[in-house]
Amino acid sequence: MAATTLVILGASGDLTKRLLMPALYRLHTLGLTRDLRIVGYAMEPWSREYFERHIQKALQSFAPDYTPAQWNRFRRQLDYVGGELHADHLLALKDKLSPATLFYLALPPPLFGVAAKALGEAGFAKPPRNGWRRLVVEKPFGTDLASAQALRQDMHAHWKEEQILRIDHFLGKETTQNLMVFRFANRFIEPIWNAQHIAQVQITYAETLGVEKRAAYYDKAGALRDMLQNHLMQLFSLTAMAPLAEWDPEVLRNHKVEVLRSVVPITSETVDAHAVRGQYRAGQMGRKKVPGYRNEPGIVRGSCTETFAALRLEIDNWRWRGVPFYLRSGKRLASNYSEIAVQFREVPGALPKAVHAGNNWMIFRIRPTEQMDLLVTAKRPGLELAGRPVVLTAPYANSVDREFSAYEQLLTDAIDGDRTHFLRFDEVEWAWRLLTPVQEAWQSGAPDFYAAGSDGPATQKRLLDAGHVWRSIARNGEV
Ligand code: BG6
Repeated sequence: MAATTLVILGASGDLTKRLLMPALYRLHTLGLTRDLRIVGYAMEPWSREYFERHIQKALQSFAPDYTPAQWNRFRRQLDYVGGELHADHLLALKDKLSPATLFYLALPPPLFGVAAKALGEAGFAKPPRNGWRRLVVEKPFGTDLASAQALRQDMHAHWKEEQILRIDHFLGKETTQNLMVFRFANRFIEPIWNAQHIAQVQITYAETLGVEKRAAYYDKAGALRDMLQNHLMQLFSLTAMAPLAEWDPEVLRNHKVEVLRSVVPITSETVDAHAVRGQYRAGQMGRKKVPGYRNEPGIVRGSCTETFAALRLEIDNWRWRGVPFYLRSGKRLASNYSEIAVQFREVPGALPKAVHAGNNWMIFRIRPTEQMDLLVTAKRPGLELAGRPVVLTAPYANSVDREFSAYEQLLTDAIDGDRTHFLRFDEVEWAWRLLTPVQEAWQSGAPDFYAAGSDGPATQKRLLDAGHVWRSIARNGEV
């Protein structure tokens, strides 16, 4: 009997093929999951051999380090059961479970609650005396506050909160985790990480991709739900949270929730001052002409779904009052460029004009490269006492570092039962609560248009304080 069993519900789907199996395969090749049994479960009445062939094809396309020899070892870990999401069908899995078993819901979101209940009814949520049961859930967790609360209710009918691991793959990214290490393991950062020294924070996740083949999902979701409510809120709370009194997953999540609870609520009257939405029109991506969102295949003509969303959040606590946090993300923007950029206040005192070369910035770059940049002023070589900006760069990973994908990290954590990089329900709930007035306001009216390949709608400027400028997406963050 394998030490641990991972049951993937939705094993015939895209997520399994593109992300989960390549990650499990890589962990296998590194010798990290050799005693894991992986059981696929889906509606298709496939044999184990058919499932193996399906996964082999997927790995040949999506696992860069695929080799026939490794595959021959990996395939022995695989198994398959076909059935519907009903307790009586799921019981066919019974003999395949180990005392330590986790269930991964790689399913369309409307089925999360159904699957959690059916697993519970089959008796699978109850841990055996010498083992455990865990449930891994993909995003999105609800589509608004009410649906998230209803989903929680469905899940909690059989599962305890400690058993549920909600995925936000940004928490598995190296740069996200580095944010915590860098902030708290360096003596010089924490004393200046507050409103006395910091003027503004800009968190940008810009993508050149359009809606691709995800029209059915995306046209209902939009950028606010797809990126802001989850991924950018996580980057935001990790940037703003207080240092941990103890390195413990619950303490960490308490601190993140504390940040969300301290955000000045956006109201229906203040939505326009705090949120901007945009939608891409036809434009030019490099040399390629691309259609506007409304002309993408599968998109409802005249759709008002936002493909760009920006927020201005203010935190009313001792550390952050007076510091605007600007968050934005969009599709079909000028470059694949993402970062958390922290601008420090001006230095006091009378510096000669020639010496002052601008405020300091600390930038955690996520894309195109993972690195940290500290923008400082140093003397310009020469006879004159003048300053110039200099960038101190700390490349995040070097060639001997072994990098793991977000899914490799999160699957390992889920198997080990480490909840640090998973979302607790109250984090999800507070994020939805903050955004509810924006969601309500955006049910009517229309987004502001921007040309594909640009920096997003011009109206995003209205969120900024006087003297602040959005960092340039086209120029990868130069102001
Ligand atoms: C996903 C969104 O959660 O994150 C996508 O649904 C987005 O729309 C993606 O493209 C971005 O994450 P990454 O890691 O692929 O850059």
